[in-house]
Amino acid sequence: MMKKTAIVTGANTGLGFAAAKGLVDRDYHVVLACRNREKGRAAQKELGPNALFRKLDITSFSSIEFFLHEIKNNYDGIDLLYNNAGIMYVPYKTTEEGFESTIATNYLGAFYSTLELLELMKYREDSRIVQVSSIAMYLARDVRLEGLHEEKDYNPWTWYNYSNLYRTMFAFELDDKLKNHHTKVVVAHPGITKSRLRKRRKRNLITTGFDLIATNIKTGVAPVLEASTNLNIKGKEVFGPGVIHQYGKPRIYKGNKIAYDKEERKKLWNYSVELTGKDYK
Ligand SMILES: NC(=O)c1ccc[n+]([C@@H]2O[C@H](COP(=O)([O-])OP(=O)(O)OC[C@H]3O[C@@H](n4cnc5c(N)ncnc54)[C@H](OP(=O)(O)O)[C@@H]3O)[C@@H](O)[C@H]2O)c1
Repeated sequence: MMKKTAIVTGANTGLGFAAAKGLVDRDYHVVLACRNREKGRAAQKELGPNALFRKLDITSFSSIEFFLHEIKNNYDGIDLLYNNAGIMYVPYKTTEEGFESTIATNYLGAFYSTLELLELMKYREDSRIVQVSSIAMYLARDVRLEGLHEEKDYNPWTWYNYSNLYRTMFAFELDDKLKNHHTKVVVAHPGITKSRLRKRRKRNLITTGFDLIATNIKTGVAPVLEASTNLNIKGKEVFGPGVIHQYGKPRIYKGNKIAYDKEERKKLWNYSVELTGKDYK
C-alpha cells in the first residue's frame, strides 16, 4: 500500500512534533512545516527518513507561497493536514502584512494555506484536515472583527480566545463547503498540555494554576492522532481529552456554540477572504 502523506505545521517541538512522530510511527510520510531551518532539520533528523523539513512561516504570505510552490511541485496529493502552528499570550506585534500576530499565526495563515492545499486533498479518499484549537475557544463570547489588528484594544488573553474560536469556525465552515468531496475537516484540542508554549509566559495565579494541572504531551496529542487517523470520524467533530477536556483518552465534544451559527461563520469567512485574498466556494 502507498504511504499516506501528511503535513504538520509547527512540527519541530511540542504537540506538532509529537503528532509528526505519531504519524511517522504509523507509517505516514510527514512534511514538517517549520519556520526555523535549524529546528526543522533537527526534527527531521530525529524522526528519520519518513519525515521531511520544508520551510514555512505561517505569518508571512510570501513564505506560505514559497511553501505551497514546493509542495505542489513535489506531491500529487496530501492525505492529512494538521494545522498546529500557534502562539499564545504574546505582547502586541504585527506581521509583514500588518496583522496582529496571534490572529495571523493561529488563524489567518492556516486559512490562506489550507485553501491553497485543497486541490491536492479533496479527491483523496479518507483525506482530512485537523485544525488544532483550545478550550480557550469556549471563553470567546462573540465574533469580533473590528479593530482586531489595532493595538489599542489588544488583550493577549481575549485575542487567544478569539483565535481559537475562529480556528473552529473555519474548520466547520470548510467542512460544509467540502461536503461533495472526500476531505473531512475536524477540530482537535489537547486540553492544557506541558509544552514550551506554556513555559515562556509571564507567571500569575492563573498561569501557575494551568501549569499545575497541565498533562504530558502524550495525553495532549492523543485527540490529534485520533482525529487524524480514525477512519470513522465525521466532519466537524471536536476531539479533546476525554475527562473534563483535560485527562484520559480522547472523546468527541461540542464546540463553542457560536461555531454552529452559519451567519457568524459566513461573516468570519468573508472577512478572512478580504484579508488573505483567498476563497473557496
Ligand atoms: N500546550 C497547550 O496546552 C495547548 C492548549 C491548547 C491549544 N494548543 C495549541 O497547540 C498548538 C501547539 O502548541 P504547543 O503547546 O505544542 O506549543 P509550542 O511547543 O510552542 O509549539 C508551537 C509550534 O508552532 C510553531 N510556530 C509558531 N509560530 C510560527 C510561525 N509563524 N510559522 C510556523 N510555525 C510557527 C513553533 O515554531 P518555533 O519553534 O520556531 O517557535 C512551534 O513549532 C498551538 O497552536 C496552540 O495554540 C496548545
